[in-house]
Amino acid sequence: MSAMKFEYQNPTRLIFGVGTLAQLGKVAKEYGTRALLVTGGGSIKRSGIFDRALKSLSEAGVSIFECAGVEPNPRISSVKRGAATARENHCDLVIALGGGSTMDAAKVMAAAALYDGDPWNMIIHGQPDPYIPTQALPLITVPTLAATGSEMNSGAVISNEETKEKSFVQARCLYPKVALLDPELTASVPKDQTAYGTCDLITHITEGYFNGSGDTPIQDRFAEGVILTAMEYGPKAIANGNDLNARAQLQWAATVALNGWVQSGSGSVGYPVHMIEHTLSAHHDIAHGAGLAIVNPSWMRFAAKTNTPKFVQFATRIFGLTAKGSDDLECALAGIDRFEAFLKSIGCPTHLSEIGIDGQLIETYAKETLRITHDKDGNLSARPPMTEADIVAVLRAAL
Ligand code: NZQ
Ligand code: ZN
Repeated sequence: MSAMKFEYQNPTRLIFGVGTLAQLGKVAKEYGTRALLVTGGGSIKRSGIFDRALKSLSEAGVSIFECAGVEPNPRISSVKRGAATARENHCDLVIALGGGSTMDAAKVMAAAALYDGDPWNMIIHGQPDPYIPTQALPLITVPTLAATGSEMNSGAVISNEETKEKSFVQARCLYPKVALLDPELTASVPKDQTAYGTCDLITHITEGYFNGSGDTPIQDRFAEGVILTAMEYGPKAIANGNDLNARAQLQWAATVALNGWVQSGSGSVGYPVHMIEHTLSAHHDIAHGAGLAIVNPSWMRFAAKTNTPKFVQFATRIFGLTAKGSDDLECALAGIDRFEAFLKSIGCPTHLSEIGIDGQLIETYAKETLRITHDKDGNLSARPPMTEADIVAVLRAAL
């Protein structure tokens, strides 16, 4: 009998295709008429996306109250600013137009606008009684970068610049009502961010794949299909940003990589690479996908020692390597080397030293990661579970 047991529901309505930005106003009008429009640091104004969105919204009769300037690794102070703007202007809708940072901030603003407490209570950061929101203003996500999958999931990751913490909230009310995906909006994403996005989406998949229960053939094939697609189209989008087919494949891959479908039934116990990377981002404000490219290969080498058959499967199905048997650690490690070489080839850093991080605070990163999330034994949830010493070892190997 199969061990698989799961329930899946993703309520987000998905609209996908080149040119769909023109539908934004009409779609928004179905949910509200006074929209908080959340945007990032200005890329969408330079590329003209902002003006096109505004035109569509004003033609539909939707009024706009903007919260501009959400930073990468979005800060709780920006969330508070946006929630205040929404309240002051009686907004009945939130629209996020930007990358994962903008979408995540918009999600928490949508919940914070209806919450009297401090929105930092919503972010799981080791406090005894986090507030899990149960209501939020309706949200429409319009991603301009293929990476996080935030557009179609119920999670958000927020940083606290004062305490140097970065962590997440997950709640059903945070699922966007609509995700409007127009791959043309991602054409202006620079090469480095395209590479980081490719790494991020692949890492969402590898976390479920390697931390799962095993014996999940359908999920494994879904996962491998997404990885192979990202490895094929990521480099094409980096080589030619205006290749809209490559941009579309990458965007769809990013969305399916973290909308819950591929992970359903996989029995995955955690996101160790993400948890460790979030601590690095909290201390050094690095790009999420770049941090993952450093931590993931090192974590894989750690996990491959105990979960060798799965890493052999990865090496053979993704890179066509031949194994002597499912316990062939040499083949497993060769697959990880090939994966790391792929990340390098698209321009990702794969060592901490490349981004100017030395080993001085490694023990602190490990402690902080475990303080924010741990299992009942105090370890980081993963297969195998990670002790503080394991996290230190993985980070040291990534120096
Ligand atoms: O701020 P602007 O000026 O827009 O510039 C951004 C930013 O500098 C730029 N950019 C975005 N769209 C562009 C563009 N530049 C040119 N043309 C466009 N069309 O790209 C830079 C990075 O943007 P950001 O939103 O930070 O990137 P990303 O989408 O990778 O989001 C990263 C954030 O999402 C979180 C990460 O931790 C990080 O904080 N994550 C959210 C998840 C979720 N909600 O499910 C899961 C992920 O694992 C991740 O943790
Ligand atoms: Zn990620």
